[in-house]
Amino acid sequence: MKIRSLKCNRLTRPMGFALEEIKLSWVVDEAEGAVATAARIEVSTGADFAGLCYDSGFLPDADSAGTLITLDTQPNTYYYWRVTVRSDAGEEGTSPVSFFATGRQGLPWRAKAIAAPFAEHPVFVRRFTVKEPLALAMLNICGVGLYEAYLNGQKVGDEYLTPNCNDYKTFLQYQTYDVTPLLQDENEMRVYVGDGWYKGRFGLENGHYGGDTLALLAEMTLRYADGREEVLGTDEAWQCETSPILGGGIYDGEQWDFTRPVSTARAVPGALDISLVRPRISPPVRVMQRVKPLWVRAQQDGSLLVDMGQNMAGLLRFYNRQPAGVHICFAFGETLQQGKFYNDNYRTALGKYEVVCDGTEGWLRPYFTYFGFRYVRITGFATPLDEEDLCGLVLHSDMDRTGCLTTPSEKVNRLYHNALWSQRGNFVDVPTDCPQRDERLGWTGDAQVFSATATYNMDTLAFYRKYLNDLHIEQDRRDGGVPAYAPTFGEKDMAPPSSVWSDAITIIPDNLYRFYGDIAVLRENYPYMKAWLAYIQRRVGEGHYLFDVDFHYGDWLALDGATSQSVKGGTEDEFVASVYFYNSARITARTAGVLGLAQEHERYHELAQNIQKAIYHEYFTPSGRLSIDTQTGYLICLRYGVYPHRQKLLRGLSRRFQKDLYTLKAGFVGAAPACQILCENGFVDLAYKLLLRESYPGWLYQVNLGATTIWERWNSLLADGSVSGTGMNSLNHYAYGSVVEFLYADVAGLKPARPGFGEAVVRPYINHRMPAAKASYDSPYGVYAVDWRIDADNRVTMELRVPFGCRAHLPYDDILPETLQIDGAGRHEARETEHLFGAGSFSLTYRTRIDHAHPFSRASIIEDVLAHPAARRALGEHLPQMVSQAQLGDEEKRCETIENMLGPLLPGSTPEKIKRADEALRRINVFE
Ligand code: BGC
Repeated sequence: MKIRSLKCNRLTRPMGFALEEIKLSWVVDEAEGAVATAARIEVSTGADFAGLCYDSGFLPDADSAGTLITLDTQPNTYYYWRVTVRSDAGEEGTSPVSFFATGRQGLPWRAKAIAAPFAEHPVFVRRFTVKEPLALAMLNICGVGLYEAYLNGQKVGDEYLTPNCNDYKTFLQYQTYDVTPLLQDENEMRVYVGDGWYKGRFGLENGHYGGDTLALLAEMTLRYADGREEVLGTDEAWQCETSPILGGGIYDGEQWDFTRPVSTARAVPGALDISLVRPRISPPVRVMQRVKPLWVRAQQDGSLLVDMGQNMAGLLRFYNRQPAGVHICFAFGETLQQGKFYNDNYRTALGKYEVVCDGTEGWLRPYFTYFGFRYVRITGFATPLDEEDLCGLVLHSDMDRTGCLTTPSEKVNRLYHNALWSQRGNFVDVPTDCPQRDERLGWTGDAQVFSATATYNMDTLAFYRKYLNDLHIEQDRRDGGVPAYAPTFGEKDMAPPSSVWSDAITIIPDNLYRFYGDIAVLRENYPYMKAWLAYIQRRVGEGHYLFDVDFHYGDWLALDGATSQSVKGGTEDEFVASVYFYNSARITARTAGVLGLAQEHERYHELAQNIQKAIYHEYFTPSGRLSIDTQTGYLICLRYGVYPHRQKLLRGLSRRFQKDLYTLKAGFVGAAPACQILCENGFVDLAYKLLLRESYPGWLYQVNLGATTIWERWNSLLADGSVSGTGMNSLNHYAYGSVVEFLYADVAGLKPARPGFGEAVVRPYINHRMPAAKASYDSPYGVYAVDWRIDADNRVTMELRVPFGCRAHLPYDDILPETLQIDGAGRHEARETEHLFGAGSFSLTYRTRIDHAHPFSRASIIEDVLAHPAARRALGEHLPQMVSQAQLGDEEKRCETIENMLGPLLPGSTPEKIKRADEALRRINVFE
């Protein structure tokens, strides 16, 4: 038995985090047994576990996905912990040792906030001596806007953009670092402070949201070997130097001048409200990957153009070998236009890093900004640049990667990786819309839509919990209203509540509960779910159940709007808003149920029913037909179960897609989840058709145009590669990347059967367009993995892995149970409608109920037939006019089924010919 992934509140070895509760989790691998019979958690302040401060004893019901311990923690202290697990096979294993460490907790600060007496950016400096042997030195520090601390020339910690991004008027996060290894007898501490989100230009109003002064608060607690403690805090004894940083900001980049004369002064009291400084909740932002340039090319104008090969967010660092006085400028862009550098889509964001060199060699990079970029234009180099001197630093919040996925389609794989890169680029402490232009805001709609995909990809719990806290702060200010982005930093009117966006407060916690089963997430968010519903109820008025007031973004960027560049789609906003109101009421009712609040459960259930009734009354005909005849209209009704008559809704949906020639017209609301909804409601072929569409509008259109991240618009670039517009056009916008949830859940076929993934459903939706898929998900309990392929006999072979302590359900939906054969170590049993697997690794084979190998017949859509060489030949042989007509003819004809093109539409086709074409098509085995 091996035990890994020891986490505290889903963070690995957290230091100085807020510890309202301490929930420990671990994963058991390579066990002989299938389930744990007991587990024991031990906690000690010494790594040798000589004395224990907590011992759970062997608990029969310890939950490896999260067991709460109660511990009276002391400030600035390491708590080492390990867990011993016993299994049903009688084995016992002990984990490696992990730890969590406390910061200064509730201790009153002895340090004073300091600032510089000059207007320039300061470096705060303090020299000090450590005379006696040290046991531990902990630094607790908060600098505003952003800070970077150095001790004896070495960077303190490996975090960037501290103290992170949140509503600074409500709280400031301090960070805790163990600086023991950095200390020597004589020491110099230098802390750079810059504007960041706090003081720099930021937000839709270009505001300054924290304060007017850069300030620093730091306290180093030195614990000597003999147990004595000394505290070295910021005070007027600190020096300030003018820093080489001249200015910049999150949007604009940074300018450094190393040749500038340094002036020094004594620190003065700083404007930083100490009562707001709290233990951190933001997971660290770190360099998560390094990227080497794909190429560097000299341009005619003397500049250099660099292609990083990947659209990314973060920094470019360079090894400076330039002589003193040389002025270098790095400009960042996402795409080239006619082979040339371009970044007009950054709007007013300058996105530049400038350095005036002083001749010192060494690695340089900006401190208090980041860029979203693939290409860099460099000007000013006086001597040739060595490619090795450039390195891209991918910055994002540190989250473990949990999901992996591959399909036989290289293009789908690229799409998957593009979504992953858009996640990396937009998870820089806040889930942002985009990382490059003058926006980079935590738009709630985008965040909500992408939250399940993000959580398949990475362990997002701590990250989203911080973001939900950002939402709570806003709601407290707005009477329960959730703004369209958070933090707003007080930009009250720029982001009024809007349905779908504001519903993030119900949808994100619900998704987190689905993946992590952590009831604390529901408990924290339930009051805010209720507050959001109460807000809507106040807006719409007593006894009214349609959300038909206020502004809503609606089906943002859908293609059925007034023009092709319209931001608003064709689905009525009030309808979308009411369906989401219904869904939020349902989630709130369910949450009340989970929290054991029976009366409240009833209350919200009743609210949901009233909303549903009102929607039926307003938007459905008496016989049950949906009057909102748009893709998004049908899709969201299906998704949230809003229909009086399912068959009628399905028929309407089918007709709509037929009229739309099987192309997506939906936007943020409808398109993001479209494939999943279609697939799970019987439109499997259509779901795959949409996923695999290579022309505009389709997910693979952007892949074909070389995208390395997900675009904001279906046509962010036109087919000739030119940018479609600069008003609102990002090439790194994860919202449409939500299709990745479909890849995990329905293509590979892996989704939670119960909150927390203790049980999973394995249900791949097989289709002739997708003959195999492979995915793994490292759930809170361990790795589920599925790897399936289908052959020409409709025989599926599947490798399935179920983690320790878990079960997987394989429903017989598309399985002939009598053909199912299973090999492998682990318990499993046949049930009436499914096969149930315990922990273990299994090799399965079975035949499918559906004949996936022979998809063609007279009922096929002509363009699908034409796309398959053998099918096209068969059709050409028996109905040549149909092929030539479809090739010549308009798109509408190609989207007809063969049988519908007959008769008056296609003279010359006799029933005999049709029959023969049908037979020939039915004989084609697409897997042969
Ligand atoms: C953002 C979107 C966001 C929207 C609000 C845009 O500027 O980039 O992704 O959701 O505004 O509708």
